[in-house]
Amino acid sequence: MDLYVPSWAEVIVEGRARIVAPKRELFLREDGVYEPSHAPVFYNPVMVFNRDLMVALLNIYSRSMARISTASDPMAATGVRGIRIALEVEGVSEIFLNDIDPTACRIAKLNVVINSLMGVSRIYCEDSNQHMISLSKSGIHVDFLDIDPYGSPSPFIESAVRLPKIGGLLAMTATDLGPLTGRYPAKVYRRYHATTTRDLDFGKEAGLRILVAHSIIKASERDIALKPVMAYYADHYYRAYFSIDRGASKADALLKRLGYIVVCKGCGYRSVATEVEDLRCPVCGLRAITLGPLWLGSLADREILARLSRAEEDFPWLQTRERISSLAKILLSEEDVGRPYYYKVDSVARVVKSNMPPIGELIECLRSMGYRVSRTHFDRIGVRTDADFKDIASCIRSRGVVRRQGLEASSSGSLVSSSRREV
Ligand SMILES: C[S@@+](CC[C@H](N)C(=O)[O-])C[C@H]1O[C@@H](n2cnc3c(N)ncnc32)[C@H](O)[C@@H]1O
Repeated sequence: MDLYVPSWAEVIVEGRARIVAPKRELFLREDGVYEPSHAPVFYNPVMVFNRDLMVALLNIYSRSMARISTASDPMAATGVRGIRIALEVEGVSEIFLNDIDPTACRIAKLNVVINSLMGVSRIYCEDSNQHMISLSKSGIHVDFLDIDPYGSPSPFIESAVRLPKIGGLLAMTATDLGPLTGRYPAKVYRRYHATTTRDLDFGKEAGLRILVAHSIIKASERDIALKPVMAYYADHYYRAYFSIDRGASKADALLKRLGYIVVCKGCGYRSVATEVEDLRCPVCGLRAITLGPLWLGSLADREILARLSRAEEDFPWLQTRERISSLAKILLSEEDVGRPYYYKVDSVARVVKSNMPPIGELIECLRSMGYRVSRTHFDRIGVRTDADFKDIASCIRSRGVVRRQGLEASSSGSLVSSSRREV
């Protein structure tokens, strides 16, 4: 094997690993920003948060839920993910790295050597679906499997659910946020067999819940129960961790928590439904849209979130420990509200023809009426609450300044994404 660092690469440090990765200055887009997919091997420094959180979560899971001693990254690129697991997760004794690209395989091998992990690493260079199926057919099952493709994980889910052990974990990253958040509904239907719509003000959450639902449905075909342990949105991607269990009744129990969200784009009304409904909005009478199937249950395990919220003390070597802890805290507060959608305050304010109030004041108003309320990690101007829509509207009206006549006349007043509109 060629054990030299190519001229286009350099050694960087991530977590406790030393990694041969592309020199960023050689692979810039026209706007001067580093583009990982332009490099001979994929390495994205923005994903340090994704990998740091994985290291923290695996340590927590291994200490308190089920031991993690083997792990697989079937789309490994430089191998950084698996190498960090071997170096930073207590008790890991074997990692499986694979990539279809021969350059990636060569760099992954080099990184294994640099980090002195030859004795615990197995490296393959084949298609990941073929790889996962052939490992499981030969009786190899791992405690943790990480699906980390470009774009959608959907084409890999069917093979992926075969590889983890019962009691183990499956994680996946999805970067196809354009379709999943609703920009391309037809593509979502093809990839995820779910209905969504453009310009949805909580489109970021609907996309994640569609991804989770689709994974649960795919796994249930093999009587495997994928239970969400932690699913979130960050930067430009979704990330979902599932625990793996087997049994038709366990899979059925999860399927029962899938459903639909009925939403009216005219006035902002939304509610949960157990089946596809063709109905008119009970508030304004417009035809409502039914989204789904989506996962309507919890997006994260409270115990894991509570432990992740202490990441600063428990994982002091992680570069993004503060961000991990903040995300865990906000996810915990979202779980307390227990509604599978949020409201984008500027959108609701537009519908009720008021200016957007300070979010803190809106939260205080809804709490004073006895409702549960939280901010959401999906959107800095989003609010998750179990309040009735009319009370959200009334709090916004009372705290926002009612628009001047002229502004009212120029507003269409529909509840769509505000990104292209002025508040
Ligand atoms: C997003 S990168 C993986 C990043 C890596 N897991 C990390 O944390 O840095 C996706 C990788 O999947 C590989 N890949 C794409 N399609 C594949 C396939 N069908 N089988 C195996 N590897 C594949 C690509 O060569 C690329 O290296």
